[in-house]
Amino acid sequence: MDKILVLDFGGQYNQLIARRVREHHVFAEIRSYRTPTGEIEKAGYRGIIFTGGPNSVYDPASPRCDRAVLELGIPVLGICYGCQLMAALEGGEVVSAGAVSEYGKAEFTHRDSPLFAGVPETSTVWMSHTDYVKTVPAGFTVTGTTPSCPAAAIADEKRLLYGVQFHPEVMHTEYGKTMLRNFLFSVCGCAGDWTMEDFVKASVEKYKKELAGKKVLCALSGGVDSSVAAVLLHRAVGDRLRCVFVDHGLLRKDEGDLVERTFREKFDMNIVRVNAGERFLGKLAGVTEPERKRKIIGEEFIRVFEEEAKKIGHVHALAQGTIYPDVVESGTGASATIKSHHNVGGLPSVIDFDEIVEPLRLLFKDEVRAAGLELGIPYELVWRQPFPGPGLAIRVLGEVTEEKLAVLRECDALFREEVIAAGLEQETNQYFAVLTDSRTVGVMGDARTYGYTVALRAVSTDDFMTADWSRLPYEVLAKASNRITNKVRSVSRVVYDITSKPPATVEWE
Ligand code: XMP
Repeated sequence: MDKILVLDFGGQYNQLIARRVREHHVFAEIRSYRTPTGEIEKAGYRGIIFTGGPNSVYDPASPRCDRAVLELGIPVLGICYGCQLMAALEGGEVVSAGAVSEYGKAEFTHRDSPLFAGVPETSTVWMSHTDYVKTVPAGFTVTGTTPSCPAAAIADEKRLLYGVQFHPEVMHTEYGKTMLRNFLFSVCGCAGDWTMEDFVKASVEKYKKELAGKKVLCALSGGVDSSVAAVLLHRAVGDRLRCVFVDHGLLRKDEGDLVERTFREKFDMNIVRVNAGERFLGKLAGVTEPERKRKIIGEEFIRVFEEEAKKIGHVHALAQGTIYPDVVESGTGASATIKSHHNVGGLPSVIDFDEIVEPLRLLFKDEVRAAGLELGIPYELVWRQPFPGPGLAIRVLGEVTEEKLAVLRECDALFREEVIAAGLEQETNQYFAVLTDSRTVGVMGDARTYGYTVALRAVSTDDFMTADWSRLPYEVLAKASNRITNKVRSVSRVVYDITSKPPATVEWE
């Protein structure tokens, strides 16, 4: 399998670069600029991409790799800071662009270069830099310019070293995809044969060997990541994988049964479902403060899991659904495992195990979903919308009771049915109902009612850090409202939440 190294100099687009490479079916991994040259050489990369970064190469404290990386005979593409660093390492001069710093779109003109095959002579690129290469190093030539950047692209084509001052990985660079493809296939000679099928097969083989004869424990939540991790490991170790599914009684309608049925019946997995609903509700009695609710649920979850794990006894490995963004966000180096512990809320500290296995730690979210489908996990689980760990407890405002949960489950299921029936479930990223704690007056037949107010919430977002409320069609909202008030007697009013994040959050509590 061909591999591309994305050498990280702290750029905001480092993950995006890796994603873009993988879109061409070439595996890419992100590693710190501190990675020793010897390790880079041994790893057998087909090509290296130097990322952008916020520093100036003329600052002595700026991140730098060894010049020897450019001597390995491996093609290198430097992007933005990466381009400047390449120039500086080779003896070129990088200076502040001062008044001619460029941010945003620029018109790029290039001359013939393998990197720009199929790119029109003039096209739009995305610039974001305050420094530029003033004097190109010996052996390099200028291969492209913009009106305010005389060396927008440089290359030493003999040594397969390329640098671009702009960002080919962002969509605003019209032909960025073509340039990256040229680098991967024409310059590096990649085959483009990395597929999810191969990934799954190779992972199963790897864990068959590594975990031979060993017992593995996995906490299943029904979420996408833990489900895919569990099914993959099950293929490798079979019955030696023990899954514990703590049902805290705060799941959506029929969700616990779906999870159990899928893993027990479809995959014939060794799964223990702990029905701990009463226990959680007991702890939540009288509690109204959202953060208290979260804390109680988190702590109780660990306790229940620990009790089950004790029954199983010593396990060799604890499986976690850590995915690539978690690994990268926690630094492309030594701190990776610290963050992954957070994924299961501190579980490793209370469970008796020797090591952690993270079969998805190289995959992005959409690749995890593709792996899930490859493994035969049903579409509903693979495309499950995010669901908070504390579950419906933070969607029942105020005190959580069984009666309120039952009302919310019905309303939420009806709303979700309507969004799905309208074919909107991939357009809106999260959609659910909230049971408010205000009652309002209504009229049904000739009688006055005094029932719950239910709020519907749907948001569109890329990363859940910010979100826009979804402009669902009125007909969908009307149908959901009608069905809810007709079917769920204790609800007398339905409202739609039209606040974005910020200032609101996605969840109401
Ligand atoms: P907020 O409400 O913070 O939600 O805008 C952003 C995303 O995070 C989910 N969320 C949680 N997930 N435990 C979780 O595992 C939590 O306590 C929690 N609170 C919010 C929320 O569903 C949304 O996808």
